[in-house]
Amino acid sequence: MSHEDDPLEHERASWKPSPGLAVAVTDPVQNNELPPHRERVTDKDPAAMKRAVRTVYTLFYLSVAGSVWAIAAYMLFPIEDGQTVSIRNNNLFIGLGIALALLALGIGAIHWSKAIMSDKEFIEPRHATRGRDTTREAAIKAFADANEDSGFGRRAIIRNSLIAAAVASIAPGITLFRGLAPQDTPTQPNAGNPVYLLSHTMWKEGSRLAHDPSGTPIKASDVTLGSAFHVIPEELASVPRSEGYLDEKAKAIVLLMRLPQEQLHPSPGKEDWAYDGIVAYSKVCTHVGCPVALYEQQTHHLLCPCHQSQFDITHEAAVIFGPAARPLPQLPITVDAEGYLVARSDFHEPVGPSFWERH
Ligand code: FES
Repeated sequence: MSHEDDPLEHERASWKPSPGLAVAVTDPVQNNELPPHRERVTDKDPAAMKRAVRTVYTLFYLSVAGSVWAIAAYMLFPIEDGQTVSIRNNNLFIGLGIALALLALGIGAIHWSKAIMSDKEFIEPRHATRGRDTTREAAIKAFADANEDSGFGRRAIIRNSLIAAAVASIAPGITLFRGLAPQDTPTQPNAGNPVYLLSHTMWKEGSRLAHDPSGTPIKASDVTLGSAFHVIPEELASVPRSEGYLDEKAKAIVLLMRLPQEQLHPSPGKEDWAYDGIVAYSKVCTHVGCPVALYEQQTHHLLCPCHQSQFDITHEAAVIFGPAARPLPQLPITVDAEGYLVARSDFHEPVGPSFWERH
């Protein structure tokens, strides 16, 4: 069928853009034919073609050699514990092998396509994407009919009041977010201050350390070498569940462990924060707040199961692995006259993840 017989082609040829859509073309392409094909050296000279083939497979074999070297380097230059030189050599030689492999592979592929593969140009004609006039008119009519039926454009007062109602309907949702934030009360003037809330827990001087969740106080003599206890303040057991019990518990949970005294390395000023090798640390991970509940008795490491942070109890719960940025806060402890373990004070820093206003 010729272009003249095809109604679609005819419609396209006679289509004139509306003034709003028209683009003034000052430099239209006069001839979009491709320039005449130019033969390459490898097309005309069989010896040049052979050379190109040789170059390409040499590059590909070079790439194989690079990959093999990278694997060999992995075995020849292993990373040894604590040896930074071994890390450097391992990375350097494996990297060189991989770089050679990828570079030779890439150059070989480009040379193959440029010098050996056919370079004849082809044109794939593109069809116009514009719809038929009848389709466009039907779409416009559908919009106009809907507008007329609904009166959206005609009845301005309804339209404007609808827009106002839609915008206003979002406002209550935003206001309700305020209700999620803590607020001051007459008996707790700092209850609405998040920095204060995060900086204080239920622990205070004389609070007995008790089993979680029973609330039974723990005597120092109950804590044998190598044991670990999950602990809460004794007073927490009497807080009604409905009145902030979980909030208080989330901040106050502690892990209690006993180590040989000589394995502890307290920093100056903290020598009396442990009692006879018994130490207490916040159980709230300083990364994003998961409970650090796994104790490795042999290594004295605490593990956080969420993102594998590890804390060394012999060195004040210093971070030795993982994303946590600071040690677990220590709860200073001692014993009372009856031999029960008690807190010397609250924690000396906020527990849990870091936040902007943390000092
Ligand atoms: Fe403990 Fe992420 S919360 S490592």
